[in-house]
Amino acid sequence: MVGNWEKRIAITGGAGFVGSNLLLYMVPRYSRYLFVNIDCLTYAGNLSNLASIEHAPNYRFVKLTVNDYKSLARCFAEFDINAVIHFAAETHVDRSIFGPADFISTNIAGTFNLLELARQRFDDGVDFRFHHISTDEVFGSLGEDGAFTEESPYRPNSPYSASKAGSDHLVRAYHRTYRLDTVISHCCNNFGPYQFPEKLVPLVINNALEGKPIPIYGNGRNIRDWLYIEDHCRALDVIFHRGVAGRAYAVSARNEYRNIDLVRRICRLVDEIKGGGPRERLIEFVSDRPGHDQRYAIDPSRIENELGWKAVHQFPEALRKTAEWYISHREWLDRCVSGEYLKYYEQVYTNR
Ligand SMILES: NC(=O)c1ccc[n+]([C@@H]2O[C@H](COP(=O)([O-])OP(=O)(O)OC[C@H]3O[C@@H](n4cnc5c(N)ncnc54)[C@H](O)[C@@H]3O)[C@@H](O)[C@H]2O)c1
Repeated sequence: MVGNWEKRIAITGGAGFVGSNLLLYMVPRYSRYLFVNIDCLTYAGNLSNLASIEHAPNYRFVKLTVNDYKSLARCFAEFDINAVIHFAAETHVDRSIFGPADFISTNIAGTFNLLELARQRFDDGVDFRFHHISTDEVFGSLGEDGAFTEESPYRPNSPYSASKAGSDHLVRAYHRTYRLDTVISHCCNNFGPYQFPEKLVPLVINNALEGKPIPIYGNGRNIRDWLYIEDHCRALDVIFHRGVAGRAYAVSARNEYRNIDLVRRICRLVDEIKGGGPRERLIEFVSDRPGHDQRYAIDPSRIENELGWKAVHQFPEALRKTAEWYISHREWLDRCVSGEYLKYYEQVYTNR
């Protein structure tokens, strides 16, 4: 049933923003690999992102939570999985502040389940690779200078980043203790198509289009480091294939922007593309997020020097492309905001 695939890769969380972009990037490029998308379709999972590959011979979807160890074990056996690229997570910092429990179960216990299954297969002689997708947020907050590297101490400040840090430590321990072949990537903030509009870039575009207030936390001077999703996918491809076992890689294009400046830029882009405005008038400063990190910045020297990766997209063009994508996919945004997108699974998969 599994067929003669060179690799059989479980992509967890493949219906989310980064996971679906990676699948759209990799499935057509690696026709000799089987990609098994394991996703339980929370509010953030949107299978319609993957409509263009859903019939590809090297793609399968399994609706499953990483918290269900027994079903995961069956799935790994059925597809003879020999690699994991692990995206599945609760990812929104604000949600983690109001309800941390799901972050602990999915991000920590879910990662533990996957590591256990990987370890068993490795112990059975399977040549197994486990690529864990972490974040720059595990390192906490920076002052005005400097940048995080892979050697920066862990100082997570939100329940989200603490849960991601917990999962990173498990991955590290499975390499050190059991010699499991693991790699970890720490990426900065991504932007691009298919991002759920609770996150800053699509939220601002959506509210700008709808003429709704655009909320900014605190004074808007918090700084984030931004990477276009396609550059992240290329980085993940390189790390998955050539990253050294037990090593971590920090990923960034050195694009630091204050939130307020990014939001103003997006407003001006929407004005240019749609006419009207100025939409900057919609900006409203709201009470700061508790424990809000001041600044993130990543030094990507290791991945650049050791693996030869470099971001190729220029920030202004990539941001414009992103704004154009959301503006020409208003129905995608509308379906996300209304919750309609969750029906895709029922319509396409349950009647097969
Ligand atoms: N988006 C970014 O800017 C960014 C930056 C750095 C790291 N990351 C990391 O990348 C990964 C993906 O982030 P994203 O932005 O695509 O997130 P997302 O919220 O868009 O998608 C998460 C996906 O995981 C699925 N999921 C959630 N809980 C699950 C469970 N228990 N079992 C199976 N599937 C489950 C959801 O249905 C969804 O499809 C996360 O691990 C995140 O920490 C994201």
